[in-house]
Amino acid sequence: MGFLSVLSMAHKLVKERAAIGDTVIDATCGNGIDTQFLCELVGPRGTVYAFDIQAEALERTRLRLLGGREAESDEVMADRMAKLQLVHASHAEMDKQVAADAHGKVAAVMFNLGYLPGADQSVITTTEGTIAALAAAIALLRKGGILTVVLYPGHPGGAEEADAVTRFASELPQQLAQAVLYRMAQKAEAPYLLAIEKR
Ligand SMILES: C[S@@+](CC[C@H](N)C(=O)[O-])C[C@H]1O[C@@H](n2cnc3c(N)ncnc32)[C@H](O)[C@@H]1O
Repeated sequence: MGFLSVLSMAHKLVKERAAIGDTVIDATCGNGIDTQFLCELVGPRGTVYAFDIQAEALERTRLRLLGGREAESDEVMADRMAKLQLVHASHAEMDKQVAADAHGKVAAVMFNLGYLPGADQSVITTTEGTIAALAAAIALLRKGGILTVVLYPGHPGGAEEADAVTRFASELPQQLAQAVLYRMAQKAEAPYLLAIEKR
């Protein structure tokens, strides 16, 4: 039968902790797969913030949410996108970009690190920016809220970033948050999942 993929495990952990009407964040929207999952999870009464530093990623996400129909009317789009805030900025700025009244109330923040497939692979998440964003994300979460991070130790620079993120999580005070890893024990280079639940 096999184990769940890291992406499916991230979705499972988020689904167990976020619900209709919640505010949630996709910190690296890329192709929009996680953004779409979050939009369906929280429904039209919820709010989804989707961050990316590449305009192309935001556009791919917008098109995915429209079901790939580029010529969709503005009214239909407004209807379907009402709960979605596409933010062309680094996730390191999320505390400034998320509405003040949502601070401490966010149910889930999802990170999927690395580069946008099929785009410029030199544009990748960085250790410094990711650690700053993780700290901001934990502050934004409500108690019982979850942060998931998919890490890629297999690409250049990815192992250093993955090590720094794992160390950051291991040093979090246990009264603030609980952190777990979901990882293939026999494949050091395989992507793995870090999940942090705020207490
Ligand atoms: C692996 S992709 C994300 C895949 C995405 N979750 C999906 O479902 O398709 C990583 C994304 O992170 C973005 N990124 C890199 N640095 C970033 C930053 N500082 N803030 C936000 N996004 C960033 C990249 O542009 C890229 O689109």
